[in-house]
Amino acid sequence: MKARLKPGETLGDRIMKVDHAGEQGAICIYTAQRWFARWRAPEMVAELDRFLAHERGHKALFGAELTRRDRRRCRSYVWCGLGGFVLGSLTGLAGRHAIAATTVAIERVVLRHMREQVTVLEGVDGEATQTLVKIIAEEQEHHDLSAVRVGAGGFWPKAIDPVVAASTEAVIWLGMRL
Ligand SMILES: [Fe+2]
Ligand SMILES: [Fe+2]
Repeated sequence: MKARLKPGETLGDRIMKVDHAGEQGAICIYTAQRWFARWRAPEMVAELDRFLAHERGHKALFGAELTRRDRRRCRSYVWCGLGGFVLGSLTGLAGRHAIAATTVAIERVVLRHMREQVTVLEGVDGEATQTLVKIIAEEQEHHDLSAVRVGAGGFWPKAIDPVVAASTEAVIWLGMRL
């Protein structure tokens, strides 16, 4: 795993930071999607509420790790939030398949990174590893439930998937190097 660390910063510190910013992005995406879903996909509102509650919990877990380590939030934090609102609004407006496709694309990338993070941190940073393991199960659930909703899907999932997956990769790549 490539990272450009600051003096005195561990890989675990940096991963907690980047993931904390990512959870902020997820919160903003679901907040915006939920808002549009009341009109575009009312049957999804309850599920989006549940996902949103999970993401708030994830952010709190990573945030607690940052506090314990006396580390600040990531430089990308505010941009993750703003980007999340834009992405959540556009996909929320596009409707149910777009909402589900966004979650599938993001979680696929996030889960791959989180599993890799666990492999490099296991035995090196116990607290960071435990935090990640707690969160991975819920991210997997978001992925799986949304994959069912995408179904055959049609236009939006095919259009959204590569763009959102590439953006998620870019955010993580930048976060590890800024
Ligand atoms: Fe999350
Ligand atoms: Fe998630």
